[in-house]
Amino acid sequence: MKMFCQHKTNPSILGVTVVLLFLLRGTLCDEPSKLQRKLTARLNPGCRDICENNTAITLVHIAAESETDTIHYVWDFTGKPTILVALTSKRAEFHIDWAKLMESNAESVHFSEVPQYTFMAVINRIFQYDDANDRAMLDDGSNVFVYDPHNFTWNRSLLWSNEKDAMMAINAGDDFLFKLNAYSTKDHGMNFPHLLHSSNSTQIDIVFNNITNRFVNPRFAIELLFVVSEQAVVGSEFEVTKRKTLDDEHTPGIFEIVDVLSPGAFTFSAGGFIEYRPVSYTHPERDVATSTETRQSQPVTVQSPAAALQTTLAYALYGSKLDSLLVQGMNVSFGVSEDGFYRKTNYTTMTFQVGYGMPPVEELSAFVLIVAGIGIGIPLVVLVASVIYVCVKKFRNQDRFQLQRL
Ligand SMILES: *[C@@H]1O[C@H](CO)[C@@H](O)[C@H](O)[C@H]1NC(C)=O
Ligand SMILES: *[C@@H]1O[C@H](CO)[C@@H](O)[C@H](O)[C@H]1NC(C)=O
Ligand SMILES: *[C@@H]1O[C@H](CO)[C@@H](O)[C@H](O)[C@H]1NC(C)=O
Ligand SMILES: *[C@@H]1O[C@H](CO)[C@@H](O)[C@H](O)[C@H]1NC(C)=O
Ligand SMILES: *[C@@H]1O[C@H](CO)[C@@H](O)[C@H](O)[C@H]1NC(C)=O
Ligand SMILES: *[C@@H]1O[C@H](CO)[C@@H](O)[C@H](O)[C@H]1NC(C)=O
Ligand SMILES: *[C@@H]1O[C@H](CO)[C@@H](O)[C@H](O)[C@H]1NC(C)=O
Repeated sequence: MKMFCQHKTNPSILGVTVVLLFLLRGTLCDEPSKLQRKLTARLNPGCRDICENNTAITLVHIAAESETDTIHYVWDFTGKPTILVALTSKRAEFHIDWAKLMESNAESVHFSEVPQYTFMAVINRIFQYDDANDRAMLDDGSNVFVYDPHNFTWNRSLLWSNEKDAMMAINAGDDFLFKLNAYSTKDHGMNFPHLLHSSNSTQIDIVFNNITNRFVNPRFAIELLFVVSEQAVVGSEFEVTKRKTLDDEHTPGIFEIVDVLSPGAFTFSAGGFIEYRPVSYTHPERDVATSTETRQSQPVTVQSPAAALQTTLAYALYGSKLDSLLVQGMNVSFGVSEDGFYRKTNYTTMTFQVGYGMPPVEELSAFVLIVAGIGIGIPLVVLVASVIYVCVKKFRNQDRFQLQRL
């Protein structure tokens, strides 16, 4: 009490008010995020004869330029679906020898100068497995049907881009529907799970749509392989971390974000990452009520990557050098015990991002700040009022006492 009474206005209260106002101003009056990178997208760059009249060939190159450097995104569906993220200087160009690429030759694609960093995510295999005991876990004992995405016939249904956004929709029959996005600013994705992206990341959304059930209790899983331009050394491994978020405003019901970080990313914030919310939607109208969970296995090292990745952009870029790079993989399985298996709706989704640096961090939204402001503000006002009341009363008493003494 004494401490409060010694000052006429309490600086700490003033301070809190100023900070709250400042935070509110920052979020409420946010100007539309300014362009962080300028995008230039090209379909099948440099491909003439081979690509003419052939709509089945899809390789999209996006140069995302900032003032200081360029991040190249490549969405490649000529082999196993592969997403490349490469950080280079602004001068670097991406070249493709199409005749060689079509024959899966080593080093059929290259950059005009060695990139500062590259990260690739390969969709290596898709599994439908029999979950006889409803454990929602894919393990070696499971009865599995394997889809090799290299054999899929791709049908590109949409490709659209300007300097702010790039988007593509591409399907394998009516079974596997892919949607890819690249962005120029930091913002939330348009559809659930509304992942927070930046201009350093590209998003992939996959729908497993009405696929013929091959088992009584079918579930799906996907095998992702990661290739980074970091050397493979003993003990260097990808790390799976789970972040909790304070609010679930953007992804109702889901408070968790899973980050899979390369050693470079978690030690120097200069590496590759994959990020997703552990949620899968089981209906085209995505909502909490139509969601289930996902589970991932621990990343493991891929043996003889140059052989394992023959039919991917990774081999096209690195060839036998792949054997000296860090290449790991993990499985992500969709569903959770007692959710009725894939057959309940014959629909399930996965949305993830791959990017360079560190995954963007969710900031508290204006809504949360106002709620928190009211929650802290009202008790604070009551507290301050009662302190002032007590102080004033005490002062009056003292004055009276001093007057009496005189
Ligand atoms: C592609 O199609 C156009 C029109 O259908 C035709 O004139 C052209 O010769 C075709 N090109 C090749 C390489 O087949
Ligand atoms: C799928 O492609 C692989 C080569 O990537 C080939 O060995 C296999 O026979 C193909 N399977 C089918 C069903 O076409
Ligand atoms: C490709 O997709 C479009 C729209 O989704 C569809 O109209 C077309 O028939 C498909 N083509 C093939 C070859 O499957
Ligand atoms: C799902 O596929 C079956 C054939 O396998 C077809 O008869 C049915 O109409 C499809 N359902 C939807 C919603 O597309
Ligand atoms: C899902 O597909 C299977 C056939 O693959 C069918 O027997 C089942 O009824 C379908 N489920 C729903 C909810 O449509
Ligand atoms: C994914 O699961 C399959 C089937 O159980 C297994 O053979 C494979 O090694 C797993 N892949 C990774 C990268 O863990
Ligand atoms: C985004 O990429 C740039 C390189 O152009 C890097 O300096 C920056 O740290 C990255 N951002 C994040 C959040 O990692």
